[in-house]
Amino acid sequence: MIELHGVAFITGGLGVHQVRAQCNTQSHLLITVILFQWQWLTSQPGIGKTTAYTLTKHGVRRLAIADINFSAAQEIAKDIESQFEGTQAIPLSLDVTNPNSIHEAITETVTRFGRIDYAINSAGVSGPSGVSHAFDIDAWHKTLDVNLHGVWMCSREEIQVMLKQEKMGDSPRSNRGVIVNLASVYGLVGSSRNLPVVAYPTSKHAVVGFTKSDAVMYAPQGIRINALCPGYVTTPMTDPIPLAITQKEEAKIPLGRMAFVEEIADAIAFLVSPMSSYMYESAMVVDGGFLA
Ligand SMILES: NC(=O)c1ccc[n+]([C@@H]2O[C@H](COP(=O)([O-])OP(=O)(O)OC[C@H]3O[C@@H](n4cnc5c(N)ncnc54)[C@H](O)[C@@H]3O)[C@@H](O)[C@H]2O)c1
Repeated sequence: MIELHGVAFITGGLGVHQVRAQCNTQSHLLITVILFQWQWLTSQPGIGKTTAYTLTKHGVRRLAIADINFSAAQEIAKDIESQFEGTQAIPLSLDVTNPNSIHEAITETVTRFGRIDYAINSAGVSGPSGVSHAFDIDAWHKTLDVNLHGVWMCSREEIQVMLKQEKMGDSPRSNRGVIVNLASVYGLVGSSRNLPVVAYPTSKHAVVGFTKSDAVMYAPQGIRINALCPGYVTTPMTDPIPLAITQKEEAKIPLGRMAFVEEIADAIAFLVSPMSSYMYESAMVVDGGFLA
C-alpha cells in the first residue's frame, strides 16, 4: 500500500469530449442517437479519471480534477466525495491551450488547498491519423497545442506553485512536489505503419524533451519531474481505432493485450509516491513489452 497525503491536481478527466463534440455537429437525429449510444456502450474511464480514484484509494483526500469537459469533472468529483469519506474533490473547467484558464485552475486549487503536491498532466488528444505530406496543418497545430504546449504550460504553472511551498516532511526522500507528464511510447519511437500518425508522436517526443530539461533544472529545489510512456491503453482515446488495426498492434505486444487503464494509474501512483524518490527525468515505459 502506497500512502499519499498530499494535494493532487489532475488534468484530463472522463475522455468523452471529442465524441460529444462530434455529436453536437451532427444535424441528423438518427446519426446523433447512434453516436450517443456508441459513446454510452464504449464509455471507458480515461487515465485522468482512473488516476483520481487510484490516488484517493491510496490516501489522497484533497484533489482537483480539471478538464475541458467540466460536467465530466463535476460527476467524478461528486462521486469521489461520496465514495471516500472526508475527501474534498473540486471540479475545474480547464482548457490547457489557454494560459489564463490554466492560471485560474491552478490558483483555485492553491486557494482551496494551499499547495499542490502531485500534478498529473494527462489532458491530451490523439489528433488525426495521416502521413506528413498529406497532413492538415491546422490539425498539426491543434494536436501540438494540447499535447505539447498545454502540458508544458500546466507544468510551468505547477512549478511556480511548488517553488513557493515547503517540502512535505523532513525525510531526505521527501520533496517539494512531483510532476508526472503523460507522454507515450510514441514519445520514444516513430509511428506504427499500421496507424500512421505524425503530430501525436512529435508532441510526445517533445513532452519527453522538456520533462527531462525541467527535471534537471528543478531537482536541486526538490521538485521531482518525470514522464510516463504508456503503450496502448484501453480508454476513450483508443476506442475509435478500428478492430483490425487494434489486433495488428496487439500482435506486436509480447503480453498480447492493451493495458488496463488501472495499470497506468498504478504507475502514476508509484511515480508520485516516495517509493520513486530517486526517480528524476525518467521516461518510464509501461507497455507490456511493446518496445522490447
Ligand atoms: N490511451 C492510450 O493508449 C494512451 C497511450 C499513451 C499515452 N496516452 C496519453 O495519456 C493521456 C490521457 O489519455 P487517455 O487515454 O486517458 O485519453 P482520454 O481521451 O480518455 O482523456 C483525455 C482527456 O483530455 C481532455 N482534454 C482534451 N483536450 C483538452 C483541453 N484542451 N483542455 C483540457 N482537457 C482536455 C479530454 O476532455 C479528456 O478528458 C493523453 O495525454 C494521452 O496522449 C494515452
